[in-house]
Amino acid sequence: MSDQIVLTGIKPTGTPHMGNYVGALKPLVEMAKTNKTFVFIADLHALNIIHDPNQIRQHTYEIAAILIALGLNLDNATLFRQSDIVQVSQLATMLMNITPKGLMNRAHSYKAAVDKNTAAGLDTDAGINMGLYTYPILMAADILLYDTDVVPVGADQKQHVEFARDIAGYFNHVYGETFKLPEPMIGADTGIIPGLDGRKMSKSYDNVIPLFAPESELKKKIMRIITDSKLPEEPKNPDESTIFQLYRHFACESEIADLRARFERGGMGYGDAKRILFEKINSVLSAPRTEYERLMANTAELDTVLASGAARARSVAEKTYERVHRAMLG
Ligand code: TRP
Repeated sequence: MSDQIVLTGIKPTGTPHMGNYVGALKPLVEMAKTNKTFVFIADLHALNIIHDPNQIRQHTYEIAAILIALGLNLDNATLFRQSDIVQVSQLATMLMNITPKGLMNRAHSYKAAVDKNTAAGLDTDAGINMGLYTYPILMAADILLYDTDVVPVGADQKQHVEFARDIAGYFNHVYGETFKLPEPMIGADTGIIPGLDGRKMSKSYDNVIPLFAPESELKKKIMRIITDSKLPEEPKNPDESTIFQLYRHFACESEIADLRARFERGGMGYGDAKRILFEKINSVLSAPRTEYERLMANTAELDTVLASGAARARSVAEKTYERVHRAMLG
């Protein structure tokens, strides 16, 4: 067991798909086997995009159920809802006062929104709310509140963790040692997880395979993966095949080598390859899927897990916030 404190947040803005599983959820469950981990569902962060509380609640349950169904170790991992800890909003308000506005202007996600407006000939800040603009401050509060050492995130979130570190540094400089300085941890490169059309699997491309789709839907989706028009007898390049690129994340080394050889040798049609992929994914995910379905039908059980996570998270948050309050307001 490492003594480093690991923390990560997952935004409840959609139903997690297979790309999320491979890139984030599975590595997180692994990490929590050996580390004290805070895992929260970032519902406050979802608010700058989703204005329907039912959707946020639904996605919150889905994420909690998925993590539990995948075997998240709930002794090591504190699983909770961000909004259950009021101190995070209080800390964000405090951090506003030592965060330079210029830092927020440099945030990739804000800049991307501005660039999009400019390209469309709109006002620079059209449609940009303060939730988006101050997103990195709330995220810094998330990270700093739990004395976090390490933040596993995707490459797109690295800058946010660096901002949290910067903000902690400014704070410590003005008020004395108060916060630990967190480090981002960018996971081992899983490569791009392709979606049904071969582009990166992403909700915005509408090409995702839901993680716990019912078996029949999973099969249908996999059979719909777009391939080139090579005939069964022709040799095929596994590295350019969505089928193989997905298979890689579910099968063991020898199975992967085996399927690679069958691609390269020729003699296997894409239909067969898809059936092999379906069987593999289905065998890996069918037990967790059953547990997921059970939990989604018993949201009271999820509420209990989230409430006990919140109680644990709160006991740390209260202490940190107390320190900040004393430093800033005496
Ligand atoms: N911004 C992250 C994302 O979009 C989610 C998130 C919110 C987060 N707070 C965090 C991640 C704190 C790590 C640490 O994916």
